[in-house]
Amino acid sequence: TICMVTYKSMEVDIEAYRSCTACSLHETRTQVVVGDGDPYAAIAIVCEAPGKVEDEVGRPLMGKAGKKLDMLLSQVGLQREDLFLCNVVSCRPPGNKLDSAPDAVVICPDLWLYPQLQSLRNLKVVVAMGETAGRLWFSGYKATEMATLARNMGRYIVVGARHPAATLYQGGLEAGILTSLRRAILYSLL
Ligand code: URA
Repeated sequence: TICMVTYKSMEVDIEAYRSCTACSLHETRTQVVVGDGDPYAAIAIVCEAPGKVEDEVGRPLMGKAGKKLDMLLSQVGLQREDLFLCNVVSCRPPGNKLDSAPDAVVICPDLWLYPQLQSLRNLKVVVAMGETAGRLWFSGYKATEMATLARNMGRYIVVGARHPAATLYQGGLEAGILTSLRRAILYSLL
């Protein structure tokens, strides 16, 4: 296809991914939380890192933040099965604190996040949710500005958004996330 000719396609070795020991988090995780969803998705959502529930279940965004995301997606006519969901870091940091594993944030995107995004052949838009994901594509912004950010990466456009978990401890953030999701839908149709 045109896509294969224009863009180098990387397949992800799922067995190597599931048995990864490249950073310190492999010592404390229950399992690697591999990206999940439609391999033909036009939109991918990148969040931060697995929490307790994800570490137990083995799928991204299955806890409170994930339920919130499901609600927000339904408000713009999407469901998670339509998308690809993944995290900057694929293993749960102890106490959910990424500060304790600075090596993970450096190593994991190159090893597993970008190759997964690369393997999505119809990818048009990446929604970077929260500051950890935002830092991969944007610099010099505040969390409050996440919803205003967009960057054209050539093969896909990155749209910034607040993290769904932020809505659990701060009111009034839903509207901004919905705006980001609607922009993602629009860009995916370009
Ligand atoms: N669950 C995830 O998979 N990622 C997050 O960033 C938060 C909760």
